[in-house]
Amino acid sequence: MAIQSTTFRVGLPNPRKLQLVLWTTSVWRTLDFGLVSSMKMKLAARFYFLVTGAAIILCVGICWLGPNAAAQRKKPRRAPTARSTSTAIDYSHFSHATKKHQAACNTCHKVPTENWKKVRDYPDVADFPGHDACVSCHRAQFFKGAKPTICSDCHTKVSPRDEARFAFRNPGGARQFLIEFPHDKHQDVIARLFRNLRFETQPQFVRAGFSTSHSFADEKTKHYNNCEICHAPRTSPVLPATGWPDAFAPPADTFKLAPLSHASCFNCHWGSQQPVNDNCGGCHKLANQPSVWMDSTSRISLKFRHGREQHTQECTTCHINITKSATLRGLKPDVPITACLECHNKGPVRFDVTNELLAIDKNRDFTCTYCHTSDVGRRDPPASHYLISGLPPKKRKDVK
Ligand code: HEC
Ligand code: HEC
Ligand code: HEC
Ligand code: HEC
Ligand code: HEC
Ligand code: HEC
Ligand code: HEC
Ligand code: HEC
Ligand code: HEC
Repeated sequence: MAIQSTTFRVGLPNPRKLQLVLWTTSVWRTLDFGLVSSMKMKLAARFYFLVTGAAIILCVGICWLGPNAAAQRKKPRRAPTARSTSTAIDYSHFSHATKKHQAACNTCHKVPTENWKKVRDYPDVADFPGHDACVSCHRAQFFKGAKPTICSDCHTKVSPRDEARFAFRNPGGARQFLIEFPHDKHQDVIARLFRNLRFETQPQFVRAGFSTSHSFADEKTKHYNNCEICHAPRTSPVLPATGWPDAFAPPADTFKLAPLSHASCFNCHWGSQQPVNDNCGGCHKLANQPSVWMDSTSRISLKFRHGREQHTQECTTCHINITKSATLRGLKPDVPITACLECHNKGPVRFDVTNELLAIDKNRDFTCTYCHTSDVGRRDPPASHYLISGLPPKKRKDVK
């Protein structure tokens, strides 16, 4: 039996190997508290005592329970590698980009987590990984001083007696993953679902699904190609860290939301439809650098309001590219200026684009502010703007 040979091959006095044994059973959980609360005392001594004691209990348990224990055995951990002491490394911020943190997602994240019933109305990854995901490599950091820095990755207070944790995900953390959502593949699936089934009678959408959407309470509301099941209006835009450009505060009806949780995915991707719930990497792609918290918004045309009556149309009349695309990467802009032409640059009354282009002819420093804030409006107009205005493209530096 694999578990037994592992157990007895490791020498008892070697705590590093022991931890491998510990990890293999749920004994670790009960031990855990003892470990943590011992930190205020003579750490090492108490620790090794506990570990040895537990190991003995464990060995006895294994011999006794035999196949049961083997069945419960989890995957063995990789060899411990983290350095034991260092001043340079910041242990208060966990990064997925660190090489040794790039093991399969479920070596750390459980699906679903034990707390899901308390915090979600559908099974979800709703809590931090537990201690056993880290201790194998970070024993030194876990038992460093009275207030180990590493605890603050997950806990609000660093205390051996306090298990209070940040909300998961940590609202103060940066977003480390980008989402892969192939809009093209979902167009038909979602359209079909909504065509065939009345919303109220459709079980998998009732609780988990699309709970962000308000528009379905009323069946007569237009569904706009069903985009709004995932992109409801965002009523309270979040101030970007750098502030709004030109201190222009966008009105409340400006933005649409994007999904912030699994609520709009897991009703289809829970069990059978790939990427399934534990294939995290099928949807989450590690970003090159931690991006800003997703709940802020970057725009080319910040002054465009989705909520304006004339702008409230079928989403795909303006978002003509996204529904054909497998990924958002490189898809900027997804709304071409031709979508604005009909109302904003057509005779005899409105020439919002042409007028601003002509203003540059008179003053090369003219800033376009009808659709843009000055970060965009002071740059050279792209060729697309000249094209819809029937003017030859030019650069500001060529204006006399
Ligand atoms: C070595 C353990 C470990 C592994 C492996 C791991 N995670 Fe995490 N993950 C954590 C910890 C710890 C946190 C909480 C700290 C934080 O928010 O950065 C976390 C937080 C997250 C978050 C919320 C924060 C954010 O960046 O938006 C997401 C999403 C996430 N993990 C996805 C994944 C995916 C996808 C994988 C596999 C590709 C993965 N994790 C692998 C430990 C791990
Ligand atoms: C497979 C071994 C391994 C596991 C498992 C592991 N780490 Fe690490 N961790 C490392 C290594 C290696 C480093 C690089 C710095 C060092 O040598 O300590 C590191 C660095 C860190 C850092 C410093 C910032 C960073 O991300 O580079 C934090 C914080 C951290 N780990 C937290 C955790 C937490 C929390 C867990 C459990 C959820 C965890 N680690 C699981 C090996 C591991
Ligand atoms: C990767 C995130 C993470 C880190 C780092 C972490 N904890 Fe925890 N902690 C948890 C989770 C999750 C639980 C809930 C455990 C469970 O129920 O399985 C927990 C539970 C606890 C508890 C309650 C008793 C128990 O063991 O269930 C205490 C006390 C505690 N942690 C203290 C600490 C201290 C002290 C540190 C630093 C040495 C620390 N934790 C580091 C995530 C973490
Ligand atoms: C099942 C959910 C779902 C549906 C339905 C859906 N989307 Fe998306 N959409 C997403 C996700 C997830 C993202 C990626 C957000 C991210 O990058 O984290 C996204 C991104 C976008 C973006 C880019 C947002 C940005 O901040 O750059 C646009 C624009 C968009 N979708 C428009 C649409 C339109 C138009 C439709 C209808 C034809 C639609 N979506 C249908 C889930 C959905
Ligand atoms: C009249 C044209 C138009 C229509 C109709 C339209 N959009 Fe947009 N949408 C835009 C523009 C313009 C942007 C901003 C692009 C930029 O400046 O980067 C945008 C941005 C977005 C974004 C990114 C977040 C944000 O608000 O900046 C999402 C998500 C989105 N639209 C979803 C939708 C959905 C869902 C619908 C249908 C209910 C819809 N849009 C209808 C023009 C339109
Ligand atoms: C209404 C059910 C439904 C919902 C909701 C849904 N999906 Fe899907 N998804 C599917 C189906 C069906 C496919 C397979 C489509 C195909 O291959 O033509 C798919 C395919 C995918 C793929 C591509 C898999 C591959 O192998 O190429 C990704 C990634 C994905 N979905 C992510 C998401 C994300 C992220 C969300 C939530 C924002 C989501 N899906 C919401 C039904 C759904
Ligand atoms: C079907 C696609 C899909 C799969 C599979 C998936 N995620 Fe996500 N996840 C998303 C989307 C979409 C979001 C919302 C956008 C975001 O937060 O980046 C999200 C958000 C999250 C969050 C933040 C949720 C919150 O409520 O704060 C965590 C944590 C997370 N995912 C972890 C994981 C882990 C761990 C796995 C694998 C066990 C996983 N995800 C599998 C699509 C997926
Ligand atoms: C009616 C609204 C509107 C007006 C007026 C307008 N633009 Fe734009 N602009 C857009 C839209 C929509 C896009 C994105 C689509 C595209 O590039 O065709 C855009 C894109 C841009 C971009 C490219 C931004 C990027 O990061 O890709 C620049 C630069 C720009 N405009 C500058 C200008 C300048 C300078 C003027 C004044 C002459 C101007 N715009 C007038 C709507 C407008
Ligand atoms: C169906 C017609 C229509 C389309 C298409 C349209 N708009 Fe508008 N838009 C209007 C009207 C009408 C106004 C109000 C004009 C006024 O009062 O002077 C307006 C006003 C605006 C304003 C001023 C802010 C506000 O809401 O009062 C901006 C900025 C704007 N539109 C940007 C755009 C952009 C960018 C596009 C293309 C992506 C676009 N519009 C497409 C009809 C349209």
